[in-house]
Amino acid sequence: MIVERAAVLLAEHGIDTARADAEWIVAHVCGVKRSELLARNEDIDDAAVWPLVERRTAREPLAYVLGEWGFRRLTLRCDSRALVPRPETEAVVERCLELLRRVDRPRVLDVGTGSGAIALALADELPSAQVVATDASADAVALARENAQMTGLQVEFVHGDLRRGLPPGPFDLVVSNPPYVQPEEIESLEPEVRDWEPREALLDDGQTQALAHRALDVLRSGAPLVLEAHA
Ligand SMILES: C[S@@+](CC[C@H](N)C(=O)[O-])C[C@H]1O[C@@H](n2cnc3c(N)ncnc32)[C@H](O)[C@@H]1O
Repeated sequence: MIVERAAVLLAEHGIDTARADAEWIVAHVCGVKRSELLARNEDIDDAAVWPLVERRTAREPLAYVLGEWGFRRLTLRCDSRALVPRPETEAVVERCLELLRRVDRPRVLDVGTGSGAIALALADELPSAQVVATDASADAVALARENAQMTGLQVEFVHGDLRRGLPPGPFDLVVSNPPYVQPEEIESLEPEVRDWEPREALLDDGQTQALAHRALDVLRSGAPLVLEAHA
């Protein structure tokens, strides 16, 4: 079966999740859920599967190979213009929702939005919120806008470097998953991250510190800053 053959090849290229990745790729090509794959043992378009498996053997992240990735209740377009949204960032959204539970029609700012994951999840799960999101990468902003269009969610995306200032407040909450990889750590990262994800999304260049200062200019008095940080 093609899943087994793909899994063997992926394992030979050092991918720990070879079997699962093979199933994701074949299910994606077939347009079915992974759980429905068994029923589709025949009539699988091998020619469409192998180019994707080959991309994965080069250690391209599975999310880029599939072109989409799940984040909370959303399926987002995903490619090398932005970081792959991580499961731990879903907990950041959870924290924001808790903090905003009693705020009427909150204004929220997501700094370094990447694919738009945090901003769009908040717009989705807290429809009364007015969400603004910003990123220094024009490519990331373009991807985030595509994701807004695809999901039908309203977020105002602004292209800009946080070190030059943030969109005008006041905001009831500022949230960010800033780059937090130290330059000396980069070589020890998995190839999927080191070789494929945008360096400007990874490398700590003082953004967290700058944001801590800048956020004070735009937060309503006493309002929270929620940051994903290096453990
Ligand atoms: C770790 S990624 C987070 C992406 C997304 N929020 C997520 O959680 O998946 C950090 C993002 O910050 C952006 N960024 C880096 N430096 C920045 C700066 N000086 N000003 C604004 N955004 C910046 C990067 O382009 C990248 O999209």
